[in-house]
Amino acid sequence: MRGKAALATGVASLLLFFSSMPICQAKLGLGEPKVSQIEFYMHDLLVTEKPTAVIVAEANTTKSSPTLFGQVVVVDDPMTEGPELTSKLIGKAQGLYAPSSQSEISLSEAVNFVFIDGKFNGSTLSVMGRNPILYKERELWIIGGSGAFRLARGYALKQTYSFDTTTLNAVVHYNVTVIHC
Ligand SMILES: *[C@@H]1O[C@H](CO)[C@@H](O)[C@H](O)[C@H]1NC(C)=O
Ligand SMILES: *[C@@H]1O[C@H](CO)[C@@H](O)[C@H](O)[C@H]1NC(C)=O
Ligand SMILES: *[C@@H]1O[C@H](CO)[C@@H](O)[C@H](O)[C@H]1NC(C)=O
Repeated sequence: MRGKAALATGVASLLLFFSSMPICQAKLGLGEPKVSQIEFYMHDLLVTEKPTAVIVAEANTTKSSPTLFGQVVVVDDPMTEGPELTSKLIGKAQGLYAPSSQSEISLSEAVNFVFIDGKFNGSTLSVMGRNPILYKERELWIIGGSGAFRLARGYALKQTYSFDTTTLNAVVHYNVTVIHC
């Protein structure tokens, strides 16, 4: 019985997957579904003249927590084409993250990529996920988007490019794969 139920669920989700793809064109008039690959660097700057990441709250116990458990950070982080902050600005990563593990340094993230240049200017992607920052590669998921990214689904792979252990300032490489209408 369980096998049958699992098979039925599998078939149902496959059907849903295939039937949701043509929706872009047939039902919504938005053209064929597209796959876009987007690469950029994000600068998370806590300690600098004009911080792009600010700590807005923390628990009584956060200061004594080796994993910063209970802190909440709001970001407006520049997204640039190359790893240098002076490289071409393509957008801002706006949202928040919170260290939310008591056993390792791992952030829960909810961020909007706001594109301000190029063919995606004015469009946004919403990203969520878990970011255990000491892992080489972390994977977040795209949960939606606006403009060019309507009905977006996909994933974002990120790797730390540079990290300052004193200031906690970080530059992170993003490789985003997104399916959208
Ligand atoms: C947190 O700190 C505040 C201010 O020092 C104190 O009044 C409160 O009782 C503390 N709460 C906990 C749960 O320790
Ligand atoms: C991006 O779009 C905004 C709003 O439409 C516009 O003002 C700006 O010039 C555009 N930027 C580029 C680089 O095209
Ligand atoms: C980005 O991700 C795609 C698909 O996951 C992969 O094929 C590609 O090699 C990656 N690019 C880089 C620079 O890591």
